[in-house]
Amino acid sequence: MPRDLRPKQTDGHQSRGTFVLFAGLAVLLLLIAAGCSTTPDQEPIIINGTVVAPVPTLDPARVALGEQVYAQYCATCHGADLEGSPNWRQPYPDGSYPPPPQDSSGHSWHHPDDLLLEIIAGGGDPTIGGTMPGFAEALSREEMEAVLAFIKSRWGPEERAFQWWASESR
Ligand code: HEC
Repeated sequence: MPRDLRPKQTDGHQSRGTFVLFAGLAVLLLLIAAGCSTTPDQEPIIINGTVVAPVPTLDPARVALGEQVYAQYCATCHGADLEGSPNWRQPYPDGSYPPPPQDSSGHSWHHPDDLLLEIIAGGGDPTIGGTMPGFAEALSREEMEAVLAFIKSRWGPEERAFQWWASESR
């Protein structure tokens, strides 16, 4: 504590000066500490007045597993770099859509976890022209959650915060 570091006082004037100096230092340290503890990652997410917990850190081991799953099962369609098909917003003549990007430029991050896991497990909805195959047979629940964690690791902080909020506020 700063008080312990204060040199022995010789006269009143010096004491006051020393006190002001150390009080100033203490305030500065408090401000630095406050600044560190409110990095954006640790703030609650508030959208439309609904508050959810701060965005959790992704587990690196899970992300690493997800990266392998992605390369093996998803990259052929969604792109090695998650970039999706060029012109992915343009439907094919049969009305189905090309694979969308899985990075921040796509729209996966608009959807909550349960919907994304449902799509990964069950594939696209054929009644609305969906053509993505389902992976419930090929992948375990852990692998599907891991591939989602990997995809999340590639979103920007805003997309990640929004999708976390969308998942938590349901
Ligand atoms: C054969 C191509 C193909 C493969 C392989 C594939 N997808 Fe898809 N995916 C699509 C298409 C096409 C869509 C758009 C919806 C539709 O047509 O079903 C899509 C949509 C999605 C969506 C919907 C959310 C969105 O709007 O972007 C997610 C999430 C997704 N894919 C994740 C994955 C993951 C994870 C894998 C690997 C486990 C995977 N996909 C493998 C073609 C594929």
